[in-house]
Amino acid sequence: MGLKIGLSCLILGLGLIILNLTGLCEAGETSSYTRNSNVSDICDMPLDSDVFSVPPGYNAPQQVHITQGDYEGRGVIISWITPHEPGSNTVTYWAPENSNVKSHTDGVVVTYTFGNYTSGHIHHCTIKNLEYDTKYYYEIAGGLGDDATTRQFWFVTPPKPGPDVPYTFGLIGDLGQTHDSNNTLTHYQFNPVKGQSLLFIGDLSYADRYPDHDNNRWDTWGRFIERSAAYQPWIWTVGNHEIDSVPHIGETVPFKPYTHRFFVPFEASGSTSPLWYSIKRASAHIIVMSSYSAFGVYTPQWKWVEGELPKVNRSETPWLIVLMHCPMYSSNAHHYMEGEAMRVLYEPWFVEYKVDVVFAGHVHSYERSERVSNIAYNIVNGLCTPVKDGSAPVYITIGDGGNSEGLAIEMTEPQPSYSAYREASFGHGMLNIKNRTHAHFGWHRNQDGFAVEGDSLWFINRYWKSSVKGAGRATI
Ligand SMILES: [Fe+2]
Repeated sequence: MGLKIGLSCLILGLGLIILNLTGLCEAGETSSYTRNSNVSDICDMPLDSDVFSVPPGYNAPQQVHITQGDYEGRGVIISWITPHEPGSNTVTYWAPENSNVKSHTDGVVVTYTFGNYTSGHIHHCTIKNLEYDTKYYYEIAGGLGDDATTRQFWFVTPPKPGPDVPYTFGLIGDLGQTHDSNNTLTHYQFNPVKGQSLLFIGDLSYADRYPDHDNNRWDTWGRFIERSAAYQPWIWTVGNHEIDSVPHIGETVPFKPYTHRFFVPFEASGSTSPLWYSIKRASAHIIVMSSYSAFGVYTPQWKWVEGELPKVNRSETPWLIVLMHCPMYSSNAHHYMEGEAMRVLYEPWFVEYKVDVVFAGHVHSYERSERVSNIAYNIVNGLCTPVKDGSAPVYITIGDGGNSEGLAIEMTEPQPSYSAYREASFGHGMLNIKNRTHAHFGWHRNQDGFAVEGDSLWFINRYWKSSVKGAGRATI
């Protein structure tokens, strides 16, 4: 009998120990998904790949991409490059498709040099005062005469900003130009939840991985993304791979290729730099920040964010989204704590203004946080652990576009309590806003079918959550 009791106690004790160990891991899930960790065979697609092909015809416009061109969504910036001569800088546009009434707007053309590289003629044309929720067709030409090579595309303007306007944003970060990048873009395009515009979270071409940052790889990247970016706005965020500083060839102006190739409507939101700005689009207010520009107290970026957050009208645009390249919360071992200075400065505002979600890239992996904040610490009180906070954003790292640096597989252990789900796989995200209270987020890994969600979450809007029955104290 005594032996039986002793064994029972031993088993009970072991059970309690196991329960305790399990308790350490209650924080979240580290996916057991297996993937090829051999990065030695990851390289960019070769220059003669079909996705990089130059459109036929002399001086044909190439690398066509569009982005929002104003604060409200009635403007579009259309950008393209003509390789041999400036050609025409006029955009002809019309709606509906068979309309005989066509409008024309002229843009600007810029060029730049980078070491021995000279860019093509980079055109940017801002069209304004478009009708909301309308499909427009547009045409650009490589020359002025009737025999000039022309190309036609189309885009759809967003609905007028309003609290219950459904809208779907795609999310891609750290894309690059490998076969994995191509998989990611294909999966985004074939996702049955159709993205209407794409939030790009920084690190575009990875041209800076080539000797002297061979800018021809900026051109291949421009041709690669055209199949999506010519037809729907890509909303740009800068990453570290856009800095492109190469002092030994005299290139010391940061962001030179990026700022010549990708125009954004920063002045419309009162920003003084294209590296941070905001737009309203449908039911969302999107604030884009730069992790690689001065962001300390009193800097132009800090002053602008300070002024922008109180302007957000959650009755018009309930969904407050922040984009930045370097994550403020990441439990991956790669780039660990690089976003800490930004977090210390900006997290109190994100909680105060009830930001719904912060998307970041940089870490080549996927991770979703719980709603936590870590803003109580005041040097002496020791309160330096993230705690659950219903006013805090969800932080999503989605730097898993598939570039040539490979996946960030190594993670900190154990998984911290703020981390809800993490997985080192390439993929993209989709934020499907339903109305002022609900939005569905899905993360899609490239290995799965187009419709499969590897991770998902229903967002309840932080500003409007008290109006949702039973969700007044929701922390999700
Ligand atoms: Fe990065």
